[in-house]
Amino acid sequence: MSTPKKLYIKTYGCQMNVYDSERMVEALGGSGYVETSTPEDADMILLNTCHIREKAAEKVYSELGRMRVLKEAKPDLKIGVAGCVAQAEGAEIMRRQPLVDLVVGPQSYHRLPQLEATTRSGKRALDTDFPEDDKFETLRHRPKAARGPTAFLTVQEGCDKFCAFCVVPYTRGAEVSRPADRILEEARDLVDRGVREITLLGQNVNAYHGAGEGGDWSLARLIRALDGIDGLERIRFTTSHPNDMSDDLIAAHGDCAKLMPYLHLPVQSGSDRILKRMNRNHTADEYLRLIDRIRAARPDILLSSDFIVGFPEETEEDFTATLDLIRAVEFGQAYSFKYSTRPGTPAAERAQLPDDVMTDRLHRLQALLAQQQRRVQDSMVGRDVSVLFERAGRMPGQMVGKSEYLHAVHVEDATATLGQIARVRITASGTNSLAAVMA
Ligand code: SAH
Ligand code: SF4
Ligand code: F3S
Repeated sequence: MSTPKKLYIKTYGCQMNVYDSERMVEALGGSGYVETSTPEDADMILLNTCHIREKAAEKVYSELGRMRVLKEAKPDLKIGVAGCVAQAEGAEIMRRQPLVDLVVGPQSYHRLPQLEATTRSGKRALDTDFPEDDKFETLRHRPKAARGPTAFLTVQEGCDKFCAFCVVPYTRGAEVSRPADRILEEARDLVDRGVREITLLGQNVNAYHGAGEGGDWSLARLIRALDGIDGLERIRFTTSHPNDMSDDLIAAHGDCAKLMPYLHLPVQSGSDRILKRMNRNHTADEYLRLIDRIRAARPDILLSSDFIVGFPEETEEDFTATLDLIRAVEFGQAYSFKYSTRPGTPAAERAQLPDDVMTDRLHRLQALLAQQQRRVQDSMVGRDVSVLFERAGRMPGQMVGKSEYLHAVHVEDATATLGQIARVRITASGTNSLAAVMA
């Protein structure tokens, strides 16, 4: 048997890239590759990239610059770029970086074995098509090794929303939902391999409408079917759009025992004027009323969101409206970003705000969000929660896991083992995690 070739893969960006990287490792497994965690050992290096903000995209070029020494030391080394930068700037990458052997867009990962073979014959390979054939069929999980207690599972990919600032509809293409039976099969397989918690992924996951028994299934219907899988204990999903939060999905948060009380629901801004210019298609008030309905179904749900500050034409008054919306909701978690101009998106044509204005607003927004996050976290002290143990802690006897609310919890006297779920009592709230003892 020939010695396996080694693949080093570095993943940037969102959770879907994490899922995709696993699939790429599996796909190249068929070409004789095993994964390595040291780039110096690798016969192939793949960068799975993100294009969402300028900084994310720039990282790719600086990382490629650093790879030059590796390639000089090992001329046989193949270097590939995958992910959203590959999709958006594939030809430019090839032009700017002669050391790149392979560029592959997110919809062509099932063609990686052929593309790899092309590079081995000494040619460069570029594939940024949106092929008709179903990549998920070719990239199906190959049941093998046992794995950790949590896993991602892509159910939907792409986006038809075209928010004025966002590259995703261009890099990931149009919305596609996978058939329900394929997802259920993949979920059962993950559970057989030790997974207890599955996070369903999609750029617009709650717009899921995959073919299933009796017609198209909604995300709620899919969650209810997953709820019936023995051995699967927890279900999460991300990322959702407010306009696709259907009644049945809200209801599922109330009556589906395995669906965790955590919802990431990006709003971006609290100003109706800006929401309109962003093409988000809802108002701040509609978002607040939606939150009320979600909380009516599941009062303890922890809410998370994304915010963009400094979108073109955002005034101090618009920004204040965003702060007001945040105060009205009380988020337990949030991500916030300065607006970043993305070539090819509608907002890129509009006048930009000065960077110091954006920086100042970002700091004020983050200060408010940090206060809320802290309050929500502190309110857990004294409560009993369930923790799924994901790894050993630094102290002897300590285990670390996540609560239902996605808080990291350090359990001092953990008697449970990896992959088990235990009731614990929260004793203290730290900077980024909670401390607990077995309840
Ligand atoms: N599909 C998700 C998230 C997409 S990207 C959704 O619909 O919300 C994740 C986050 O990145 C977005 O929610 C947004 O807050 C941020 N983002 C996207 N494009 C951006 C840009 N051009 N500048 C700054 N932040 C951006
Ligand atoms: Fe981007 Fe908007 Fe689609 Fe989210 S809904 S991926 S922000 S275009
Ligand atoms: Fe980035 Fe593409 Fe995900 S742009 S956020 S890797 S969908």
